[in-house]
Amino acid sequence: MKPVVLLTGAAHGIGRATALELARRGYPIGIIDRDAGPLEELAGVLRGSGAAVSSAVVDVADKPALAAAVAQIEAALGSIEVLLACAGIGSLTIAPQLETCVLRQTLEVNVVGVAQSIDAVLPGMIARGRGHLIGIASMAGYRGFPWMISYSASKAALIAYLEALRPGLAKRGVTITTVCPGFVRTRMCADIPYQRPVKMIAPEAAALHLVRAVERRPRNCVFPWDMKIGLAILKYMPDFAFDRLMRYVGPRALHVDF
Ligand SMILES: NC(=O)c1ccc[n+]([C@@H]2O[C@H](COP(=O)([O-])OP(=O)(O)OC[C@H]3O[C@@H](n4cnc5c(N)ncnc54)[C@H](OP(=O)(O)O)[C@@H]3O)[C@@H](O)[C@H]2O)c1
Repeated sequence: MKPVVLLTGAAHGIGRATALELARRGYPIGIIDRDAGPLEELAGVLRGSGAAVSSAVVDVADKPALAAAVAQIEAALGSIEVLLACAGIGSLTIAPQLETCVLRQTLEVNVVGVAQSIDAVLPGMIARGRGHLIGIASMAGYRGFPWMISYSASKAALIAYLEALRPGLAKRGVTITTVCPGFVRTRMCADIPYQRPVKMIAPEAAALHLVRAVERRPRNCVFPWDMKIGLAILKYMPDFAFDRLMRYVGPRALHVDF
């Protein structure tokens, strides 16, 4: 029997493609999103393919609604063994328009929303002595991207949150995977005004990496392969070189002035 997977942010993009791939491989899946129409359409497609599915229209920022959704999904499919927290938002934020309301919203979904999703499934995982939590971070969480200030801050917080959780949960049998995708062709990426075409992978290709992460439980999952090199360069680049890159090269990459 394949473990039950709970997938948030399932209605679009990477989440939707991952739901389809998980179902194709026989995983029972609970799908959550705040976007009712596309979520129910996906649930219909999955049921039509013979998959075991339970869906709930929930905003991950709404803690009581999340707990109710988890109870409903577990009643339908059994205990949730894997959480794939994919729900996320990201938009352009540049100095000096600090737009703290955007920051608050972004933190609410990308950090608090993931933490609440974890909180909703964790007691069951700890009671059973096993479980797997997967969070989707971003390259923008490893260094601050000046055109996505709020998004960068949220993903940096998420990376630290997952890292800090890891030791305390490992001894209770719960594994944590931090995912760092490269550019994936979704609505989120389509909204960024890049000057030149940026190499992006299809959501279906991202889904294959995420399903592999479900199966292998790595500490980190970085894809595609050239993103591993890009991320290593970015992480270990001296501060002066990073600042210079962002100041001079950054504005030439985008149609916005920052
Ligand atoms: N695309 C990339 O290149 C890329 C790169 C690195 C990391 N990521 C991360 O990958 C994840 C998926 O992104 P994506 O590119 O697939 O974006 P997407 O196409 O916009 O899909 C995100 C999904 O999450 C849902 N969602 C957003 N806020 C929610 C909330 N509060 N409660 C429940 N569902 C919510 C969205 O619903 P709505 O339609 O209502 O907004 C949407 O269905 C995100 O965490 C993103 O930060 C993406």
